[in-house]
Amino acid sequence: MAGATPCVGRAPTDCVGEILVTEEQIRTRVKELGKQITADYAGKNPLFVGVLRGAFLFMADLVREVDLPLEIDFMAVSSYGNNTASSGVVRILKDLDEDLEGRHVVVVEDIIDSGLTLSYLRRNLENRAAASVEVCTLLVREGRQKVDEDIAYVGFELPPDFVVGYGLDAGGGYRNLPCIARYIGS
Ligand code: IMP
Ligand code: MG
Repeated sequence: MAGATPCVGRAPTDCVGEILVTEEQIRTRVKELGKQITADYAGKNPLFVGVLRGAFLFMADLVREVDLPLEIDFMAVSSYGNNTASSGVVRILKDLDEDLEGRHVVVVEDIIDSGLTLSYLRRNLENRAAASVEVCTLLVREGRQKVDEDIAYVGFELPPDFVVGYGLDAGGGYRNLPCIARYIGS
């Protein structure tokens, strides 16, 4: 916990609640995840697939902590529209540019809630003949997963509140908050 006015000047603060993960905690954990991935993929040339738009900051920070030759690509999917509950329907808004055949893929996600987006993505990527597909997510919301997905790398587990910041949005906003904060709406 780190005080109640996280981001004055970056967002209407009356919509942003308590900080759940500080900037410092994110930095430390991203370094740890990077080290772990560096060790696990030693001798390989992984392809990091960032899931737009929420994972853009995490992806940027994570790859800088991975000491390996690697490539990056992005996919954009939409599972929520403008609501705050998953519809379970995933649409690919932007597909990958890279060929996945024989590649060791690390999917980089912002948050796993129901797990429906991830479950769809994993099946989709595995069908493209990747050598392996693992998932690295910054956040997992505890006790909400409707599908039992194997997630190799998790930054933090969170309580059931909707959160914003560090790439995660509510209605398109708040992505530039440097921390993860509870969203309390307007
Ligand atoms: P799932 O399919 O229910 O697991 O939803 C996952 C996607 O919904 C994530 O990749 C996010 O883009 C979005 N999402 C879920 N929870 C939150 C949240 O608390 N804040 C912002 N986006 C969220
Ligand atoms: Mg996402």
